[in-house]
Amino acid sequence: MLQESAKDAVVDLSCCAVRVECDPGVWHAASRLAGLVAYGYEITGALERPELSDRHIKTRMGLDSCRSHCRSTPERLTSQPAERMKLKILITGIGGTIGSVIADALSDQHEVTGIDIRPVGRDGVSVADLTDIDAITPLFEGVDAVIHLAAERRHTPDIGWDLLLPTNVVATANVYDAAHAAGVRRFVFASSMHVAGNYESDEPWASIAAGRYEGLDPENVPLVTADMPARPDGRYAATKQLGESLGRYYSDCEGMEVVCVRLGTIADSDAIGDDPRGYVSWFSHSDLAGFFTACVEAPDIKFEIVYGASANTWKIYDTPSGWNALGFTPSDNAEDHRR
Ligand SMILES: NC(=O)c1ccc[n+]([C@@H]2O[C@H](COP(=O)([O-])OP(=O)(O)OC[C@H]3O[C@@H](n4cnc5c(N)ncnc54)[C@H](O)[C@@H]3O)[C@@H](O)[C@H]2O)c1
Repeated sequence: MLQESAKDAVVDLSCCAVRVECDPGVWHAASRLAGLVAYGYEITGALERPELSDRHIKTRMGLDSCRSHCRSTPERLTSQPAERMKLKILITGIGGTIGSVIADALSDQHEVTGIDIRPVGRDGVSVADLTDIDAITPLFEGVDAVIHLAAERRHTPDIGWDLLLPTNVVATANVYDAAHAAGVRRFVFASSMHVAGNYESDEPWASIAAGRYEGLDPENVPLVTADMPARPDGRYAATKQLGESLGRYYSDCEGMEVVCVRLGTIADSDAIGDDPRGYVSWFSHSDLAGFFTACVEAPDIKFEIVYGASANTWKIYDTPSGWNALGFTPSDNAEDHRR
């Protein structure tokens, strides 16, 4: 639905063709407008967002005529959704467990590139160390959405700052900076349930994490929500909290759309771990792929912290709020695979 030449873009809004002339620097505003319509949004609301009425964008037909047309026929947008927009998505740490799963899924619809410190057998992947800002900055040009996965993922108490500082702090800061410099619209940050992990010291969550379910009704367990204070359970978790904090800054002050995903547990094998906590935190590969797709495609995101796990019967963290925010429905449940 989008065609781009050197300086022009045609944004086909289905209900009326709007010709948008834009410089490359404001291309994101035009694509954002089209993206909202593609997902069934009524254009009236979109036009009220100041960043979409960028002064550099001139319409030949006039957005007002489009607005009145769309307002009078909103059902047309929802009953005949336009083709989904093809986004350019950059995944850091694309060669890892999660990167491999989501890159395959996202490639069906989008143009996926990646960065990893080691060679990855996939087209469009650059080998670079994210701690080297000069090396990575050019790789963000023209990118619509970044999914920042690269990290030292070990979270045991013995993991020290020598391992955590370069990849989880310096590299994360660099990736946010490079994304901002390139005008990236959407940033998805791989955080962790461990940011709130010390709630698992308290009841009833301690019992659930340990698999002691006597006297508990899974439907009535209070959940740890994203707006409760963070309670990191180690240095690794504290670095993830920093990544969330940078996301909040870039969202509040720079208008970047940021989704921080406090991930549960994802294994190469897709299996639930032996630890009873796995029945809370398991995130199946299938749900993981759909969830990250929603993270880059969901409209009307400013800043979200969401918990990422499958629709597991036993919960500690408020995963359903994230599904609602992203318009995503998981289909797997660890309970169906209990050993
Ligand atoms: N797998 C899980 O269960 C889980 C749970 C919670 C959070 N997370 C988070 O999700 C993200 C991805 O996890 P994963 O399981 O895929 O990890 P992974 O270790 O399998 O993959 C990480 C990738 O990042 C790359 N990388 C590391 N340092 C880099 C650097 N300096 N520059 C460029 N690339 C670098 C590695 O080569 C690797 O391919 C991580 O941020 C992790 O903390 C994972």
